[in-house]
Amino acid sequence: MIIAILIILAYLIGSIPSGLIIGKAFYKIDIREHGSGNLGGTNSFRVLGKKAGFVVTFSDILKGTLATCLPLLLSLFTDIQVNVNPLIFGVVAVIGHMYPIFAGFKGGKAVATSAGILLGHEPLMFLIIMVVFFLSLYLSKYVSLSSMIAGFAGLVYSIILWDDKLLIAILAILTIFVVYRHRANIKRILNKTEPKITWL
Ligand code: G3P
Repeated sequence: MIIAILIILAYLIGSIPSGLIIGKAFYKIDIREHGSGNLGGTNSFRVLGKKAGFVVTFSDILKGTLATCLPLLLSLFTDIQVNVNPLIFGVVAVIGHMYPIFAGFKGGKAVATSAGILLGHEPLMFLIIMVVFFLSLYLSKYVSLSSMIAGFAGLVYSIILWDDKLLIAILAILTIFVVYRHRANIKRILNKTEPKITWL
């Protein structure tokens, strides 16, 4: 029962559409109608500017971290122990982020919330993936490509350094989510119509 409640809670946390809330509340803009139409941090940077972009990205990361830490928080504040791998709740939050009940099931591309899972589970891995992401961004200027490369870097890291097959499978699922949600970006990269960043 408690596992079902935590799964629903993780989905609801992931479903919080931070880009939509911040865009509408502070800028009177629905970011789904501008830029790439995506609800994530990159489109918030593009449409709303740096300040909003940072806040949305940070909030989306936090959703993954919070969902992953749900069993830990529960054990801190109650006597309840949940014997399920906490990354499962992070994955459910990513599903909520991609298909949010609060935004017509049209959400983001799984990147920031997946990164939040790693931040909650293994901060060193999060830092390494950030380095890979920014290095790739510096060289390519494509956020989408760098997001996918960072996803693969996480998967390779887990295969090399983790023994646990379930954890590796979870990283593989997250990488598949990231690539699947970037289908349109992949087409644009191949057509050379994907926008590049200009600030790095
Ligand atoms: O995290 C999403 C990013 O990789 C691409 O976003 O808006 O350029 O499609 P966008």
